[in-house]
Amino acid sequence: MIRKYKFGRPFETGAVTAPMEAVQGKPPYGEIWCGDKVPACEEKRPAGAFSYRYVLHDEDIVYGLGEANRGINKRGYQYVSDCTDQPYHTEDKRSLYGAHNFIVISGRETFGLFFDYPSRMTFDIGYEQTERMTVSCERADLYLYVIEGDSAYDVVKQFRKIIGRSYIPPKFAFGFGQSRWGYRTKEDFRHVADGYRSNRIPLDMIYMDIDYMQDYKDFTVNEGEYPDFAAFVAEMKERGIRLIPIIDAGVKVEEGYPVYEEGVRGGYFCKREDGSEFTAVVWPGETHFPDFLNEKAARWFGDLYRGLTDQGIEGFWNDMNEPAIFYSQEGVRELQQVISSCQEMEHGMEDVRRIQEKAGSLANAGADYKRFYHAVNGQMIRHDQVHNLYGYHMTKAAAEAFGRIAPNRRLLLFSRASYIGMHRYGGIWTGDNHSWWSHLLLNLKMLPSLNMCGFLYVGADLGGFGADATRELLLRWLAFGVFTPLMRDHAALGTRDQEAYRFGDTEAFRGIIETRYRLLPYLYSEYLKAAYTDDMYCRPLAFVYPEDDFARGVEDQLIIGDEIMIAPVYTEHAKGRYVYLPEEMRFVKLKKDNYYIEETLEPGHHYVEVAVDEVPLFIRAGKCIPLVDAAQCVEEIDRQTMKWIGFEGASYERYDDDGVHADSRVRRTVDSM
Ligand code: NOJ
Repeated sequence: MIRKYKFGRPFETGAVTAPMEAVQGKPPYGEIWCGDKVPACEEKRPAGAFSYRYVLHDEDIVYGLGEANRGINKRGYQYVSDCTDQPYHTEDKRSLYGAHNFIVISGRETFGLFFDYPSRMTFDIGYEQTERMTVSCERADLYLYVIEGDSAYDVVKQFRKIIGRSYIPPKFAFGFGQSRWGYRTKEDFRHVADGYRSNRIPLDMIYMDIDYMQDYKDFTVNEGEYPDFAAFVAEMKERGIRLIPIIDAGVKVEEGYPVYEEGVRGGYFCKREDGSEFTAVVWPGETHFPDFLNEKAARWFGDLYRGLTDQGIEGFWNDMNEPAIFYSQEGVRELQQVISSCQEMEHGMEDVRRIQEKAGSLANAGADYKRFYHAVNGQMIRHDQVHNLYGYHMTKAAAEAFGRIAPNRRLLLFSRASYIGMHRYGGIWTGDNHSWWSHLLLNLKMLPSLNMCGFLYVGADLGGFGADATRELLLRWLAFGVFTPLMRDHAALGTRDQEAYRFGDTEAFRGIIETRYRLLPYLYSEYLKAAYTDDMYCRPLAFVYPEDDFARGVEDQLIIGDEIMIAPVYTEHAKGRYVYLPEEMRFVKLKKDNYYIEETLEPGHHYVEVAVDEVPLFIRAGKCIPLVDAAQCVEEIDRQTMKWIGFEGASYERYDDDGVHADSRVRRTVDSM
């Protein structure tokens, strides 16, 4: 049962696709204070005009918030939905790149809430006061959806039904991808391809970061380096490798650059109040931001992807689309004023602090997001009021253009910034994490929350983006990444080489990445099932075993599809880990040369040993999964090699399709052990 409530004059975000009328009256759970109805006597008045309050009970768990920091259970902290270019995902960070305002309360009462509000919103989930949850925002213009269900999982499934089907990428996108900020020349890319192929480590994609472009200009390639880009794309494809270029949100301001000139001529960039184009500095220097919320501008920008698809490109990643701002001219002027007012240094350290503070807040400044506007249906809307929709609309513009450019073909597309609704157009990678063990665990915890919000094609930078990875960290992270739909190793400029063949022995890496390909028929099948039935691809244990009190508290294991549970090792030097089995399971360890071992374990707690070259998984009681021989790329997987592991007598319904066409018919086959 879902009820929709309307407050004020909400912006139509398009997050919900099911037609629904708003109902009158008060939602069945919690209290709402709106505008001047907030009692003045409240000792802690919420910051904004809208506030939702709910009293949490001891046993309540709060799930959701998609791409957010900390646990699967969100209780005990405060989160802010505010798409942010945040390169340090430390525990204290309240905002990351996505804004996913869906939560589920599961305990004494079970219900879900979706706050469809495109600007900054605060979720205090028992942080200020342990037993109080407060969701608040500055303007009382939003839709609130209240979802009642039998269980948290049931609530999620109902929510997923109203937000539309999740994006399904082409099948090659389930292979392994290598990325690095810093690959620039053809030789750089060939070197990576050689490194993988000569070591027999499977690979399907190499990602092109900003250095393939000419001066960081979108939809250009460095002419000197790629005089015949199409031929280079074809050369890589011959080797079973797709090149996946990055596209940034900001367009370089440069006379003679056609994208810039067309954008100005068409009035497609976001404007200041006085009608001039807003300028901010990002990678290319001064840039303008396309007005993706404007239909014409979105269509124009989307169609530009054709320049690359015409040369054989089949996938993209959309970056810097919060949008990220390094600084604006206005911000710099304000900094200069602060510096000149401190010239005499009358206040000593205080002056230094003022300068530091101003300089430190130049990037992604709230003030800059108030300096430009979107033209939506004849109305000028200040950016900060719809900030969380920007990356979503960039990705929507691209996906809709793909429908025109390559009708019926599935292209790979994922984005950094997002809002619920974008899950219909593309996936997400979770941005600039670090080569820290804690970020391996964070990667695991984020996955089910993202799935709840419709984002199925998701993954983190395996091995970590910032800082230097170690062999052990990368191996353990890859062993987890085997199960994330987007499996990509990506690293930042200036960090040590992190490709799977860079750590001396390559055998262990080969074995782990091969495991992805051996499991691919299962992983792909479970992905298709999740997408076509609006379900989750990976779930917290609590969703599968709601009656099991211990399972409700497990934060470091997941159920992948319906057949397997995973419990990755995320501790340095550990020989294995403790794991909780809510039911009898078959413990399987997969390693190189198509080798595996199986053992049946009773329900309860176990310590399992897992070597760094092994991928562990647990097959649930009475179930089985298909396993094929390893291959060098997805297209080479030989389904004739399929065998079954798991419980005797079990059967499995496998989904498959051609992996290429949007309307490809899903084939379902049932096999038994
Ligand atoms: C920021 C992105 O998050 C990162 O993945 C990328 O490498 C850099 N931008 C450079 O393009």
